[in-house]
Amino acid sequence: MKRFQKYIHLIDLNDYPVSWWKHLLELAHEIREDPSAYSEACKGKIMGTLFYEPSTRTQMSFQTAMLRLGGTIIGFDNPATSSVAKGENIKDTTKIVSGYADIMVMRHPTAGSVKAAALTAECPIINAGDGGHLHPTQTLTDLMTLNEEKHTLENLTIGLCGDLKNGRTVHSLIKAMSCFKGNKFVLISTKELALPTYMKDILSASGHSFKEVTSLDHAIEELDVLYMTRIQRERFASEEEYLAQKGCYILDREKMVRAKRDMIVLHPLPRVDEIAIEVDDDPRAKYFDQAKYGMYIRMALILTVLRCDGLPAPLIVGRTIPKAKCSNPKCITNQELYLPLYFTGSGDTVTCEYCDERTLL
Ligand code: CP
Repeated sequence: MKRFQKYIHLIDLNDYPVSWWKHLLELAHEIREDPSAYSEACKGKIMGTLFYEPSTRTQMSFQTAMLRLGGTIIGFDNPATSSVAKGENIKDTTKIVSGYADIMVMRHPTAGSVKAAALTAECPIINAGDGGHLHPTQTLTDLMTLNEEKHTLENLTIGLCGDLKNGRTVHSLIKAMSCFKGNKFVLISTKELALPTYMKDILSASGHSFKEVTSLDHAIEELDVLYMTRIQRERFASEEEYLAQKGCYILDREKMVRAKRDMIVLHPLPRVDEIAIEVDDDPRAKYFDQAKYGMYIRMALILTVLRCDGLPAPLIVGRTIPKAKCSNPKCITNQELYLPLYFTGSGDTVTCEYCDERTLL
């Protein structure tokens, strides 16, 4: 049973056709060229930002984007100062805020939480990162950076390095770039931090070439793009497990010597120690530009969503299965127990519609 969104929510970029992404990239380019032409485009509109998890870039670039469009903002950046601290669930918080605001932006530590909010929200909601699952507006930022800096989204050899297990930006970017022809993926990680199986299944199904390696030294020479990521301390079960992985990949000037002259280095940021400060002065280091592109693409997104430009995507496509439960302990359905459960697929193994993890029935 398919249930469509009432609004243009952005939960997963792959819910929308590539033509819609291209529209956003073109609009973001136009806004960057002439920001003053858009300075009143969202006059009278209010954006609610609900950040249950820390953020600098995503939160402030969304807020700045709305202010630069002439709108205003409300919200919290620390759930401890909201009624979440009193035990309010996602459904009630987002239902209330969606009655005040015209558009909501939500970051939450739990996979599937933004989809859960979208079930009852009374305005469009944008996923600003749901646990280790997805981060679609970071992906739009990455696509804009590639489009502006490499002038193509096709035929690129993309190295993704670091915490590929927990890095939601990596998951969203792989899903997006596998929609463009000719891209190859080099997955550089320790075996403990390898890309989850469901993501590798997505890559295999897309027909794109990918390989898993452990050495950044060996991989760097063939790359057009190197996407570095932070080891995500907050997602480890124990400090001991984090310390075993900390510092496993560090990009420094010596490694950059072996990279192509036109390779670009991206990083969603924040960085910890995975890119040495000395690399910042290399013209191939584009991660600070990338953060600024993020503001323009979010301006384009806010405008497009508020104008209802595009078709709302399906919200639910799966079915309920009596007594079935998602096996992912980090899925929102295992924390907010009132949520209806939906699964896709058939046979013994089905996929949770909130977190995309496989569950054995
Ligand atoms: N890239 C990114 O999501 O950064 P923040 O956590 O600072 O928002």
